[in-house]
Amino acid sequence: MLAETVLAGLLMASGAAAGCTHGGPSPGVVIQQCSKPGMLALAYDDGPYIYTSDLVDILDAAGAKATFFFTGTLYGCIYDQATAVKKAFKSGHQVASHTWTHPALSGLTEDGIRSEMTQLEDALVNIIGKKPAYVRPPYLDTAGQTLPVLKSMGYKVITVDVDSGDWNKNTPEQSEAVFLAAGAGGNGHIPLMHEPYNSTVHELTPWLINWAKENKLKLVTVAECLGDAGGAYQKGNFKPNGKTTC
Ligand SMILES: *[C@@H]1O[C@H](CO)[C@@H](O)[C@H](O)[C@H]1NC(C)=O
Ligand SMILES: [Zn+2]
Repeated sequence: MLAETVLAGLLMASGAAAGCTHGGPSPGVVIQQCSKPGMLALAYDDGPYIYTSDLVDILDAAGAKATFFFTGTLYGCIYDQATAVKKAFKSGHQVASHTWTHPALSGLTEDGIRSEMTQLEDALVNIIGKKPAYVRPPYLDTAGQTLPVLKSMGYKVITVDVDSGDWNKNTPEQSEAVFLAAGAGGNGHIPLMHEPYNSTVHELTPWLINWAKENKLKLVTVAECLGDAGGAYQKGNFKPNGKTTC
């Protein structure tokens, strides 16, 4: 009993020392799942692409919020989809980082990792005026210097607890079976999905919206599902650098 009380006191003291004034996750620590039940944090990697705008419409029509882990150049240049990126942001979806060129970060030097992060930040400042505070590392690769460098840059690091397998040729029906097996109970899921697949946008997403409704799950951003709704973006005002091409 005494030991527990002392431990709790120490934990509170260290939280205060680290400036933790809200309930969000610590930078540089891998998060796989929401911190509360009753929600589902739909998350889409690898955009923006030609389906981003449709995806926002589908989510908005359902009153759903989701998270977009955007890259700079994977499916063409992010500036060519600037309208869709703005639309996602203005609709209240979370805009987060999936790096500039989608490399495995563990294969890069510290400077290389920083450059992957800052190039996407610069583009997002130009397009939506914000720098993201959340990242999902490509290939979920958090090895090597990845976590210490992301921590030093203030990034909260998201991986996954339910893999739709869309990247591995799962049909929407096969992905749906994965969600049914995972179930709607327990702390909310943070799924792995990819918006450049038309079937993920036009078939799996409507099914998930309906599944969430049937199970009374609220569709929220990753930040919100971690009690960090105010922490989706880095603090401060950032000036656009005028770039409009990749
Ligand atoms: C994407 O899927 C929708 C709905 O199934 C369909 O109407 C549309 O033509 C598809 N788009 C492409 C480019 O295949
Ligand atoms: Zn990816």
